Amino acid sequence: MTTPTTPTLPLPLQDRVAIVTGSSRGIGKAIAIHLASLGARLVINYTSNKEQADLVANDINSSCADSTPRAIVAQANVSDPAQVKFLFDEAERVFGSQLHVLVNCAGVLDPKYPSISNTSLEDFDHIFSVNTRGAFLCCKEAANRLKTWWWWSNNIVIIIYGWWTEAWVWGICSIKGCSGDNDKDIS
Ligand SMILES: NC(=O)c1ccc[n+]([C@@H]2O[C@H](COP(=O)([O-])OP(=O)(O)OC[C@H]3O[C@@H](n4cnc5c(N)ncnc54)[C@H](OP(=O)(O)O)[C@@H]3O)[C@@H](O)[C@H]2O)c1
Repeated sequence: MTTPTTPTLPLPLQDRVAIVTGSSRGIGKAIAIHLASLGARLVINYTSNKEQADLVANDINSSCADSTPRAIVAQANVSDPAQVKFLFDEAERVFGSQLHVLVNCAGVLDPKYPSISNTSLEDFDHIFSVNTRGAFLCCKEAANRLKTWWWWSNNIVIIIYGWWTEAWVWGICSIKGCSGDNDKDIS
């Protein structure tokens, strides 16, 4: 007698393509690993720390049996529009699909938490260029590219914000829903 086999259900994010900015370490790394466990294919983004980014990608790739990698690394400074474009191009090129998920985690934070009187204009500009401008540039690029899964489904854009930036978190946002009115959705 043959033993009945239990059908395997697809994972919730099976083969969805996700970019997690700043995923070489910290919160971004944890989110990338979690999305991979839900079935997503990942772009691990970093700006300077290639070694750490490679470790995250290797970790994800070694935990699945696929012959093709489920995670790749891409260096891109999110405050630079050309590099943001490259990041999205790379995701589409390598995985042969439009993007489904963007998680903005790239960020800089001075661990000394200086008071405003001790914060230089250069530090202020740098923090805002990554944490705020970077998130904006990635959302803008995503607004033009995110793929709608089904007519009723929304895509996922998450912004991890810090004490410097305005409190602005999108859990699951309708960035390109039924209306297709991206600008309205993202403003
Ligand atoms: N940790 C917390 O408790 C906490 C709480 C609330 C909010 N946040 C916010 O969440 C965000 C992430 O925090 P975290 O603790 O995970 O930080 P983290 O451990 O310092 O990691 C920062 C990540 O951002 C990347 N990054 C930095 N500048 C970048 C740039 N210009 N372009 C692309 N990637 C860049 C880093 O890449 P490299 O490795 O290449 O440098 C790294 O992957 C920050 O905005 C922070 O303010 C953190």
